[in-house]
Amino acid sequence: MIHPTQWRSVITGVGGYLPQRVVTNYDLSEVVDTSHEWIVERTGIHQRHFAAENEFTSHLCAKAAECALKNAGKDINEIDLIIVATASPDLTFPSTAALTQKLLKNTNALAFDVAGVCAGFLLALQVADNFLRLRQAKTALVIGGETFSRLIDMEDRRTNVLFGDGAGAIVLESMPPEKAGERGVLGVHLQTDGQFSDILYTDGGASSSGKTGKIRMSGQEVYKHAVTKLTDSAIKILTEYNITVNEIDWFIPHQANARIIESVAQRLNLPLEKVIVTVDRHANTSAASIPLALWTATQEGRVKPGDLILHEGIGGGLIWGSALVRY
Ligand code: ACO
Repeated sequence: MIHPTQWRSVITGVGGYLPQRVVTNYDLSEVVDTSHEWIVERTGIHQRHFAAENEFTSHLCAKAAECALKNAGKDINEIDLIIVATASPDLTFPSTAALTQKLLKNTNALAFDVAGVCAGFLLALQVADNFLRLRQAKTALVIGGETFSRLIDMEDRRTNVLFGDGAGAIVLESMPPEKAGERGVLGVHLQTDGQFSDILYTDGGASSSGKTGKIRMSGQEVYKHAVTKLTDSAIKILTEYNITVNEIDWFIPHQANARIIESVAQRLNLPLEKVIVTVDRHANTSAASIPLALWTATQEGRVKPGDLILHEGIGGGLIWGSALVRY
């Protein structure tokens, strides 16, 4: 809980980037035995973007960051912290954050990655918020970027229809309470339970196989955990901050599947008009999905300064949680 005299971190710019190439459900139905109707009915997804061959996660992150910096009216040299949430880094090392920093021509920020897969953006937000509240940094770029098209087994119809590429970014600034007013990150809660690590994973990695591996998933298991864990996590954070569902202006969840999003919203008694859905256009972009949805909603003039937002996400680990942000 933030004390009224405490410094807090405030979002002052949002940006996003989607690769040019759009892949429709019809395109995928030429690769595997699936159909547009099946994909829409089970997931709500109509299309996704795939990065070009020479376009890596750091390129997407840098473009989203430039967009967020422009919207915040900030110069890159004012950034002293860059956190990239990704499960599809350019290289095993150095971090995608370091490579993004290089593309942005910043030389003085601390830059590092966090690995929370589809909950990665919330993890990056929590880490950045802690830095900024303690005033160990002044202005952060918090980025979620993925090229999951590289982790998909294109022959596996159970997973290849679900994911897309993209990046979203926010500029997060440390502010004294008199400047922040009511705005800022109110709180983030995340939790991990590694006993479920075998229901959503890649079958490779630097240490285990020397190869990146491809996504493997028990879809129904993940679905069940997503609905119950996300609902419980939202109730927990709302209770802790003494906020009622009616006070929430926008629900901007991780965009995995329209059915998961609607099911959680229903369980929370959140009207669908308050739910931002971009999974139809972007598919599941893992760590990029929340900032991309936030960016889309600000571009459309829906989310405005002062609005109270509930975010939530779940990813391979399992890792899951929620955040409350006064935008
Ligand atoms: N096209 C056509 N048929 C398909 C496809 C496809 N793309 N994929 C699976 N099927 C078939 C299956 O083979 C199966 O056929 P069978 O009965 O002959 O064996 C049938 O459809 C039913 O398969 P289920 O897995 O039971 O389908 P389900 O209704 O559970 O839908 C889905 C699958 C969409 C993956 C669903 O389980 C889901 O959304 N799970 C959540 C997973 C998720 O979102 N993961 C993303 C990462 S985690 C996260 O971000 C939260």
